[in-house]
Amino acid sequence: VRRQAKCDGDAAERPLLAGDAAAKLGAMLAERAPLYAAADVTLDTDARCLEDVCDAAIDAIEQRARAGGVPLVSLSGSTERSDIYVGRRALDVAPEIVRQRWPRTRVIWLISDTHVASTWGDVVCAAFEDSAFDVRLLLVEPGEATKRIAEVERLCDLMTRGGATRGDLVVAFGGGVVGDLAGFVAAICLRGLALLQLPTSLLAMVDSSVGGKTGVNLPAGKNLAGAFYQPGVVVIDSRFLDTLPRPEYRSGMAEIVKHGLIQPATPFGGTDLLDVLAAASLDPLPPEAVDDVLRLNVRIKHSVVQADERESGLRMLLNFGHTAGHAIEADGYRYRHGEAVGLGLIVAARLAGLLGRVDDAYVVRVEHLISRAGLPIRVEGAVDAIVNRMAHDKKNVDGALNWILPDSSGWVERVTGVPVELVRTALRDIGAT
Ligand SMILES: NC(=O)c1ccc[n+]([C@@H]2O[C@H](COP(=O)([O-])OP(=O)(O)OC[C@H]3O[C@@H](n4cnc5c(N)ncnc54)[C@H](O)[C@@H]3O)[C@@H](O)[C@H]2O)c1
Repeated sequence: VRRQAKCDGDAAERPLLAGDAAAKLGAMLAERAPLYAAADVTLDTDARCLEDVCDAAIDAIEQRARAGGVPLVSLSGSTERSDIYVGRRALDVAPEIVRQRWPRTRVIWLISDTHVASTWGDVVCAAFEDSAFDVRLLLVEPGEATKRIAEVERLCDLMTRGGATRGDLVVAFGGGVVGDLAGFVAAICLRGLALLQLPTSLLAMVDSSVGGKTGVNLPAGKNLAGAFYQPGVVVIDSRFLDTLPRPEYRSGMAEIVKHGLIQPATPFGGTDLLDVLAAASLDPLPPEAVDDVLRLNVRIKHSVVQADERESGLRMLLNFGHTAGHAIEADGYRYRHGEAVGLGLIVAARLAGLLGRVDDAYVVRVEHLISRAGLPIRVEGAVDAIVNRMAHDKKNVDGALNWILPDSSGWVERVTGVPVELVRTALRDIGAT
């Protein structure tokens, strides 16, 4: 800079460096260093022209994006910004992402269930340990019964006795059960620890890991105690799906179909996901379509949660299929969550048909999608029992059942005051007695 000033005199336009250039550069570097340290990609620019540097930057970013190392979307939640990464090898870049997001974190509490940990635990522990993190693995039993207050207490106890500090990170590594439970532990242990969601089931990848809902079940019902607590980072690596049992995979497909059906009414808009689902095999998805489907789902859910984090309005759309779905699931627990949601989508579509909101073709299309995903389209159970369960749904407002129903343009919206007789008819039409 001095030489340039000597050669060019006043023509050397470096207004920021006028006066004591060295001191000013030093001050600027100190001010900018934390931002440089947070960069996703660092390039050496010495002796390179601008075009060269731009090309190198584009190459580096594309390479990271392919590996899942650039956030697909960032959700600005009320408690935390949530950066969501999606890619077949996204786990590989997770340690680096953690280092950049939480530079002081050394200890990771990796919470997982015994199924997931026995298959992938070594891979995940090694990924973080190779980057000098101190990984403490905490295991829970697989299954919905694990989502209970006693488990929250047990985990918080293990962590605090084990010396947990406010600078530690909780990694929720598993399906939706682990995600909800470990997310809640992160929300309350030491009044809140950083949280990374590392989902391994299809349902957790496309739904539960995104959006910040955490919690456990109470004897009175599902998800009755919990917190909205955004994970600072979500890393969705589709490799984990390679070992997911097929029935669990199908369960996740129900939420994907739901996202496809609500997409036109979300801020993301469009029909891309339904178009992909219409063209692809669904049981399972072809490998080359998986990452695209994951990305579309994340974008759809992100757009809804971003607009309404605490479920005061738009987020209700995500309950499409869940009014009947939850009741069908809770009635004897003979269906998996996703199977019940699939059936709930069919009930909602049929109900919309009975109300004259959609034509028969819509109903047939929904049933076709659910059945192509390998999910049941006929329900077992008593109409009365299912309708009673609906009356106790925690999402009812002032005693009125909330339905999320489609119309013929593909729009989906909240509808109240649906006559219960029509609900009974829709349930009977798909086999309830
Ligand atoms: N927080 C939310 O917004 C939200 C949204 C939807 C559902 N949920 C919750 O999610 C839970 C259901 O989640 P789920 O369907 O992932 O169930 P789950 O967590 O019980 O996982 C299903 C089974 O698959 C196994 N598994 C998971 N990933 C695997 C893998 N890669 N390889 C081998 N086995 C694997 C698990 O061990 C478990 O046995 C419910 O409790 C539901 O309430 C939460």
